[in-house]
Amino acid sequence: MDHFLYRDGALHAEDVPIARIAEAVGTPFYVYSTATLLRHFHLFDDALAGTDHLVCYAMKAASNQAILKTLAQAGAGMDVVSGGEYLRAKAAGVPGDRIVFSGVGKTAEEIRTALTGGIRQFNVESEPEMEVINAVAQDLGVIAPITVRVNPDVDAKTHAKIATGKSENKFGIPIARAPQVYAHAASLPGLKVVGIDVHIGSQLTDLEPFRLAYSKVAELTEQLRAQGHDIHRLDLGGGLGIPYARSNEAPPLPVEYGAMIKETLGHLGCEIEIEPGRLIAGNAGLMVSKVIYVKSGEGRDFLILDGAMNDLIRPAMYDAYHDIVPVIEPAPGVEQRPYDIVGPVCETGDTFAKQRNMPPLNPGDLVAFRSAGAYGAVMASEYNTRPLIPEVLVNGDQFAVIRERPTFDEIINRDTIPEWL
Ligand code: LLP
Repeated sequence: MDHFLYRDGALHAEDVPIARIAEAVGTPFYVYSTATLLRHFHLFDDALAGTDHLVCYAMKAASNQAILKTLAQAGAGMDVVSGGEYLRAKAAGVPGDRIVFSGVGKTAEEIRTALTGGIRQFNVESEPEMEVINAVAQDLGVIAPITVRVNPDVDAKTHAKIATGKSENKFGIPIARAPQVYAHAASLPGLKVVGIDVHIGSQLTDLEPFRLAYSKVAELTEQLRAQGHDIHRLDLGGGLGIPYARSNEAPPLPVEYGAMIKETLGHLGCEIEIEPGRLIAGNAGLMVSKVIYVKSGEGRDFLILDGAMNDLIRPAMYDAYHDIVPVIEPAPGVEQRPYDIVGPVCETGDTFAKQRNMPPLNPGDLVAFRSAGAYGAVMASEYNTRPLIPEVLVNGDQFAVIRERPTFDEIINRDTIPEWL
């Protein structure tokens, strides 16, 4: 459930009409709902009630500091995957002991930044990385808390580009090698092993791959404990999917996910961390765009929007489906017609939807892309010298611009011309 509903014939974000925001900031833009972000965070937090746990929001999904602050104030930790994300989380006021650092290619510099500012743990992805963390920690005279990310060789049954738990993927260490890798970690004086980490992919719509992976982690926990390692924290990654097409998808609920976690891992008495991104932010955000032209093609009509693939890359990159709805509620019984919905970028891939049924639309009409809160604004680019679009946060009847649209001058002046030209 989200807080983007039609009221008095017009789409609202909580108590604010979308059209009013469009008037204030221009189109296209992203808009997020505070109530929806918090609702989704609490679904996870409540699902793990009774277990020592921390919900570490995977901030790669939507990393505006206003969003981070909203979640951190509710008690969330953060999962970061770069030095930049670490600094952004700190800037939003998240304490270091609530930040976990994931990612396959942490540099010595990023590790130093996190060790200096404070970190809950590094989720280590390889033995070479482990040695670098050890060296930096020793240099700073501190001990780095770590888990090792294991690759359980489980098929997450999701889009190939976002599956991470198969043995051929670049992530983690093969689970069978874990005993050697943990022995190696224990021999390094700058490290303190605190647990195990696993993340098998994103947009999972079935609990079984999770259950399989977590059962393997349960077995490994007992094995490593028997070998003398102090395994008291399990980081289970993110990945729970969301319904993109409202009609036919019903992924498992956080409460069911939480129950499965307790069932597979509860007996171990470990502290549990999870790293949801998409489920918290996805349906808490819309991208709003305006129809520029309606163009009749060969046997089809195109809706040409002012938003494009550089603003929301998911359809072009993953063939992702996003619901697209008119901001003015269609009159009951109005006849729908199929449109190809496209952006103005000079690529055929700049297509959001093909033959999508919509009520008749005209230039100037606003449309909203649902489920655009996660992996939307964060994956945007300035391709075609199109400015990054603004982000707006709604809270009840208030809204605030949380990232301004840059001016063309700001964009153009970022280039520097060598003196020989
Ligand atoms: N933890 C780790 C280590 C991850 O790599 C990810 C996502 C998450 C947590 C959060 O997963 P989530 O709960 O959001 O599924 N750009 C793609 C998704 C990439 C996901 C990358 N890793 C998309 O738009 O579908």
